[in-house]
Amino acid sequence: MYETVGLSFTDSKKPLMSSRLALRIQKLGLKDFSDYLALISGSDDGGEFQVAVDLLTTNETYFFREPQHYDFLESDLTDRTHTSLSVWSAACSFGDEAYSIAMLLSDMQHDSRIGSDWKILGTDISDRVLRSAGQAIFPQERLRNVSENRLKRYCLRGEGEADGLAQIQPQLRERVRFGWLNLCRPIEPLGPFDVIFLRNVLIYFDAPTKSAVVDCVLEALKVGGLFFIGTAEGRVTCRTPLKTLIPGVFRKLSV
Ligand SMILES: C[S@@+](CC[C@H](N)C(=O)[O-])C[C@H]1O[C@@H](n2cnc3c(N)ncnc32)[C@H](O)[C@@H]1O
Repeated sequence: MYETVGLSFTDSKKPLMSSRLALRIQKLGLKDFSDYLALISGSDDGGEFQVAVDLLTTNETYFFREPQHYDFLESDLTDRTHTSLSVWSAACSFGDEAYSIAMLLSDMQHDSRIGSDWKILGTDISDRVLRSAGQAIFPQERLRNVSENRLKRYCLRGEGEADGLAQIQPQLRERVRFGWLNLCRPIEPLGPFDVIFLRNVLIYFDAPTKSAVVDCVLEALKVGGLFFIGTAEGRVTCRTPLKTLIPGVFRKLSV
């Protein structure tokens, strides 16, 4: 897992990891963890390595998480003129972050603070979350930070069996594209983006992996573009010159 997807697990994570894998091992009729390790390490794993990635990644997310970042993005975009806007939500999980940004940009377009040429890319390493992100159906609990106005404008509330769920409206969904991407492998040329969100994923990497991932991701950011990380992720050391704006938000100064 460390070599392939960059995830480093300390001993304290052992109970969590074993509980996440135990059911799968039982379902496959395997004897124990060694059998499972042999299966996912083999060349003919039948897609099981990806299942293990899906099980071992932590996908906690919700709409407008760390709302000060969205406020900052809004005021920064209002102050500058953009003819077009391209945003990357790297490690997007179920898509809550990507659709939150889409709601914000759609509102700004509605008020003529930005033009109509904007789009968002969401990427993640977990197939499971990406499938769900494309369907854009969310438990209302995860939409708790979305204003009533935005809920009305951008969400269809479920009824009957779908009670407690909401789906993002098609006109917002068509602005957001999702794709599989491993941040710990060389990234094919992407972007360039005006804004990159790389939030709450660096915490799962060790220090050298963190720096390598940040520099790699920043290659896809335009000079002058905004870079967001989670506020709990501490200091990031990287080669790319950045200016700190508020906690977790940086501007790329040069290549
Ligand atoms: C906690 S979620 C963060 C979601 C969102 N950015 C947020 O802040 O709410 C972390 C995501 O990182 C993804 N992830 C972990 N390792 C990754 C890697 N090597 N490449 C791409 N995504 C990865 C996980 O699958 C998970 O969905």
